[in-house]
Amino acid sequence: MPRKELLPLQQVTLNGLIFDWSYQFLSPEKITAFAAKRLPANFNEQRAALMQGTFKNISENRKVTHVLSRSSHSPFRNGDDSRFVQMVRRLRSGNWLGATGKPITDIVNIGVGGSDLGPLMTSFALKEFASDVQQHQVNTHFVSSMDGGQLYAVLPIVNPETTVFIIASKSFGTLDTFANVDTAKIWALEHFTGQNKLSPDQAEHGWLEHHLIGVSASPQKMTDYGIPPAHQLTFDQSVGGRFSMWSTIGLAIATSCGVEVFRRLQQGAAEMDRHFAEAPLTENIPLLMALCGVYNREEREINNLAVLPYDGRFRHLPSYLQQLDMESNGKQCTASGEAIDTPTGPIIWGGFGPNGQHAFFQHLHQGYDAFCADFIVVLHRKAKQFSPAVQASLAEQQELSVANCLAHRHLMTYGSESEQARNHYPGNNPNNLLALVHLTPESFGAIIAAYEHKVFTQGLIWQLNSFDQPGVELGKKVAEGTLAAIHNKNGHFDASTDSIIGLTRDI
Ligand code: F6P
Repeated sequence: MPRKELLPLQQVTLNGLIFDWSYQFLSPEKITAFAAKRLPANFNEQRAALMQGTFKNISENRKVTHVLSRSSHSPFRNGDDSRFVQMVRRLRSGNWLGATGKPITDIVNIGVGGSDLGPLMTSFALKEFASDVQQHQVNTHFVSSMDGGQLYAVLPIVNPETTVFIIASKSFGTLDTFANVDTAKIWALEHFTGQNKLSPDQAEHGWLEHHLIGVSASPQKMTDYGIPPAHQLTFDQSVGGRFSMWSTIGLAIATSCGVEVFRRLQQGAAEMDRHFAEAPLTENIPLLMALCGVYNREEREINNLAVLPYDGRFRHLPSYLQQLDMESNGKQCTASGEAIDTPTGPIIWGGFGPNGQHAFFQHLHQGYDAFCADFIVVLHRKAKQFSPAVQASLAEQQELSVANCLAHRHLMTYGSESEQARNHYPGNNPNNLLALVHLTPESFGAIIAAYEHKVFTQGLIWQLNSFDQPGVELGKKVAEGTLAAIHNKNGHFDASTDSIIGLTRDI
């Protein structure tokens, strides 16, 4: 049934971020009662441990220190902080020279999962804030997939003599990443030995010395690969991959936007950390996000959350949150190995809202399945680089986007009895609105940190370990077997898998 009565306002505001949970159909009293039922008794201690970097990732026998990695009081901050800053400044000023003496013009971040998604998302979102005086233009590209799909597009538009590759990998052993590195290396050495007439040794040495930066929690592996210590950046093993964009893994953010923007991003996240640690329950953004999410999952049995940004700068947010949430809380057993008898983390999906309206929104409006949604919108955008007339037109476009966000969200909440809806539009889909007065590096950092703390809190409620990923590790192991079978041309799995392995034989 469409909803007749109007919902009361429920909002929390923090530094220009308005978290509106009016459309969750939950009162402060109800959420407080639900928290009393579902938050673990030691929640405050666990949250304090996260803030202090003493929370335990039991299965991997490590602490959890991503919060420290953005705190200005922390010894963990960026691991090699001053080296990080110097590298970015050299690259962005044109003072980093390639093997043949030319300034670097392109940076390619090779990494996957947490070593790709955060840097990619944030570089894209904050590009316009690039604040360093940059007389020299460097472009940052991202390559992640093991099939080489992105290398096909990047290699033709960059020059081996003026390109630096960042090998971003916490483990410094991920197959996907090194498959891309291997191809990039062959491509570069071919150029150096052909065009530049270097000997194979000189070419390899030049590549290692001038065209590689390693970012990893395993410095020994970077050294073994041949990356000079001065071009290595480390971070602590206790910073989880999907929580690592605040650490040296954020190098590509800093090469795209400058060190200043990277600092502001960290500061915004640290503000959200303080808020999460101190704000009372009904004014605590991450806590409310977590509790509403668990309520929707358990009491309303909704198994998915659509992430719907109405600002193109948030384009990569849905993919980022897929890893953050689904790799953390997509589990069925507790941290100590017992089966969990409630549903756990939902399926996270989504896409750019305005375009989604012309694609999947019909299903959200009137389809069969229930869903939750997070709408994300930016109320004002400055466009100072354009003429006044273009600025005015862009401001109208921003209003158009806000209006559409509010309209579709309202309809999905209240439903409709209009004839146009053919009398079948119940609405009642619980959703949040995260509205930013302006997008800034600080507010962007705050939103991402809020989602991290939501995931952390939900993990505590479900008593699972949000900081490991055993299923993915198992998948990697099985893939070693399928690759060996493809090389040996002898599948031994089942009819389906063996048949496709057979088809990989050379024709
Ligand atoms: O997908 C599994 C995973 O281990 C993620 O947790 C991680 O972000 C990604 O692979 C990449 O790992 P690494 O940074 O070690 O290359």
